[in-house]
Amino acid sequence: MKTRKPLVAGNWKMNGDTVFNEHLLGELRASLGREPLAAIEIAVCPPFPYLAQAGGLLAGSAIERGAQNVSDRPNGAFTGEVSATMLVDLGCRWVIVGHSERRQSMGETDDDVCAKLTMAAAHGLGIIACIGETLEERESGRTEAVLARQVDALVGAASQAQRGGDVAAPMPAERFVLAYEPVWAIGTGRSASPEIAQQAHAFIRSRLAALAGEGRATRILYGGSVKPENAGSLFAMPDIDGGLIGGAALIADDFLAICRAAAAHSGVSVER
Ligand code: 13P
Repeated sequence: MKTRKPLVAGNWKMNGDTVFNEHLLGELRASLGREPLAAIEIAVCPPFPYLAQAGGLLAGSAIERGAQNVSDRPNGAFTGEVSATMLVDLGCRWVIVGHSERRQSMGETDDDVCAKLTMAAAHGLGIIACIGETLEERESGRTEAVLARQVDALVGAASQAQRGGDVAAPMPAERFVLAYEPVWAIGTGRSASPEIAQQAHAFIRSRLAALAGEGRATRILYGGSVKPENAGSLFAMPDIDGGLIGGAALIADDFLAICRAAAAHSGVSVER
């Protein structure tokens, strides 16, 4: 039985507007009000300008909010950047770091991602740290080497934050989440099969255990073309602890179906 509480997070990417958000979040909220899925955690990650609007629309609901990025600088003359302090001020619980779209198109390196993780953790934000290989890396047999490099970097930074780093409050283990997102599965409609995803998750978990000795406690989400049709078989895998959802997070019925699939495969017993 899984002991980790699944997390389903919607990464809206650069989508949404005030009217769209009102409809989508209104539907999520109403449905989860009728049918609370207490066995899982649910988060939505809208673009920065809508975090406050989402906060108003979700006030009093169990749906948490996350941001899609954060600056590694505390504040000051960094035009266009958004600080961890601002995200906390807006009531965010989570931040995504290291998404492959940022690694690829903005040139973010492991060091950049770790600096963001450290800053976010120092401000008490939960981290969803993304890793994953490209098609070329997979086809040339380098999947495990790439994952090992990314995990080692992120876990090094996270362990430092968990020990307290330079701040007073250490990051609790459940606030560091990894998301395995094979780049070839993102937005392509071509999800990794449950077996291929499980193989990567098991490798990531063994690496975590070797590095931090806590492999079993850390949640590892799968992301990449998760849909209602494949969510159940992915979440049934022993090392898959929920999902980071792109396109399907923009459709209320699909996102809810994915959340229900995660709840159905949760081993956590909850008191209602
Ligand atoms: P899709 O679900 O659209 O493939 O996107 C996955 C993703 O990148 C989530 O961060």
